Amino acid sequence: MTPIDAATFRHALGRFPSGVTVVTVRDDDGRDFGMTVSAFASVSLAPPLVLVCIGDDATIAGAVGAAGHFAVSVLAENQEALAQRFADSDADRFAGTEFSRGETGLALLDGAVAYLECAIVARHRGGDHTIVVGEVLLASAVEDGRPLIYQRGEYRRMQ
Ligand SMILES: Cc1cc2nc3c(=O)[nH]c(=O)nc-3n(C[C@H](O)[C@H](O)[C@H](O)COP(=O)(O)O)c2cc1C
Repeated sequence: MTPIDAATFRHALGRFPSGVTVVTVRDDDGRDFGMTVSAFASVSLAPPLVLVCIGDDATIAGAVGAAGHFAVSVLAENQEALAQRFADSDADRFAGTEFSRGETGLALLDGAVAYLECAIVARHRGGDHTIVVGEVLLASAVEDGRPLIYQRGEYRRMQ
């Protein structure tokens, strides 16, 4: 069987709803990088592992490849503009973005519904992406926080 074409792949996968996160890393010079990522999943409870998939062409890819840690901010339903900004190649993503620094020093975006700080424990090839596995060192969540949803190419809210 031959693989399906990109449009069919996107069409089918678009039915699958996901949350929206911003993944942040820092390089050796302390510069912040961040990118909107929906390819985020929990992997294991003991040890506590999560994964994010980072495209090879993403600006953040080099910094993720060299980093020891990454952080995840799970965006709230009113943070669509932030999701857009951190997906926009031309945006100065951290300018005007309110964030605090976690214990790892990584940027955690204000107003998110949950935060994770992770030590990178494995990187796997996944086609044109790298599957980055992180051990969760710190996690926090806002009570009753409502997450932003992405499905069929649109941002949505839970009913
Ligand atoms: C809702 C949404 C989810 C995204 N999820 C991912 C993802 O999981 N992995 C990824 O590599 N890029 C993802 N992207 C694309 C990046 O956020 C970004 O737009 C792309 O890498 C271009 O930015 P760059 O110029 O900094 O590379 C997503 C974009 C959007 C809008």
